[in-house]
Amino acid sequence: MEKITLSVIKADVGGYVGHSSVHPALLEKAKETLAGARSGLLVDYHVTHVGDDINLVMTHHQGTDNEEIHKLAWDTFLACTGEAKKLKLYGAGQDLLADAFSGNVKGMGPGVAEMEFVERPSEPIIIFMADKTEPGAWNLPLYKIFADPFNTIGLVIDPKAHAGFKFEVHDLIEHKKVTFSCPEELYDLLIFIGAPGRYCIKSIYSKTTGDIAATSSTQRLNLMAGRYVGKDDPVCIVRAQSGLPAVGEVLEPFAHPHLVAGWMRGSHHGPLMPCGVDHATPTRFDGPPRVIGLGFQLANGKLVGPQDFFADQAYDEARREANLIANYVRTLGPFEPHRLPLDEMEYTTMPDVMKKLAGRFEPA
Ligand code: F6R
Ligand code: MG
Ligand code: MG
Repeated sequence: MEKITLSVIKADVGGYVGHSSVHPALLEKAKETLAGARSGLLVDYHVTHVGDDINLVMTHHQGTDNEEIHKLAWDTFLACTGEAKKLKLYGAGQDLLADAFSGNVKGMGPGVAEMEFVERPSEPIIIFMADKTEPGAWNLPLYKIFADPFNTIGLVIDPKAHAGFKFEVHDLIEHKKVTFSCPEELYDLLIFIGAPGRYCIKSIYSKTTGDIAATSSTQRLNLMAGRYVGKDDPVCIVRAQSGLPAVGEVLEPFAHPHLVAGWMRGSHHGPLMPCGVDHATPTRFDGPPRVIGLGFQLANGKLVGPQDFFADQAYDEARREANLIANYVRTLGPFEPHRLPLDEMEYTTMPDVMKKLAGRFEPA
């Protein structure tokens, strides 16, 4: 059976205005570049944005980690950077950390989520894309979707989902991975993924079929660059229905905005606000962090869609709740837990302040 690969590759190559959005000229350039790709390389593509990030959704038959596909994404971001420079957009080229492409965009700045699978008779997929947060932001919703029967009734009453799912978790600091079989190992899983700054759910597999059900981008741009270059603004692909969680079960966790790390200067906790693409433009305090969810039906690799799920009024209350949470946490100003702990902030003056005060510290 022929397999299809779905690659979602994203980068921030210049913000309009500040870090709030992507200028239409860049989205046009991205579409133009992908449209001009070598004939036969892509089956289909869709270009979108969330906040200041350009997201390239591509289907093809080249498999994951393919050099030609990654180079196409890199060249697309490079072309967009050219536009960004012309318009003097903010932070033009900021996520292209290397001077030249070297085989795979991983480790070079862009975020990547890819999966290869045999397309089912009907293949509903949902792609989540977020701005002003980090890959660990998916831990809580993925846990709810694939392990929490209060979210996903299919775990209880669908014979094809009842056996549960396997979770591959990555340690982003020590670069190790471990797989948990749930529901048996739920409590072991939770001790790790409850610390989303370090442990991230990379992929999820059905225990009934062995099929891949979800995968996320787990790059940590700030760790890669060794200096502040912005939060990682992650993406996540989820397959739905027929023994996997239903579309509505996949969307359900976003009905309540959870707190994620990111927001202003990548240094604050705030609510993850679900919104439609047209409202994916962080404003207040450079936020609140946003998530969009685009649904597609795959038809022999063609991306039929998108359905802009969070544009729906069913998420109005989540947006209201996010605004109320934002009001509350903002009252804390520079104090934790609104501001991130010292070792997780992406901006800090601490070393300089410490140096200045070095002579004034006495034994207490
Ligand atoms: C967060 C983000 C923004 C910037 C902030 C300051 O991920 O991108 O909140 O950190 O606008 O940006 P600079 O330092 O570029 O002025
Ligand atoms: Mg930016
Ligand atoms: Mg961004």
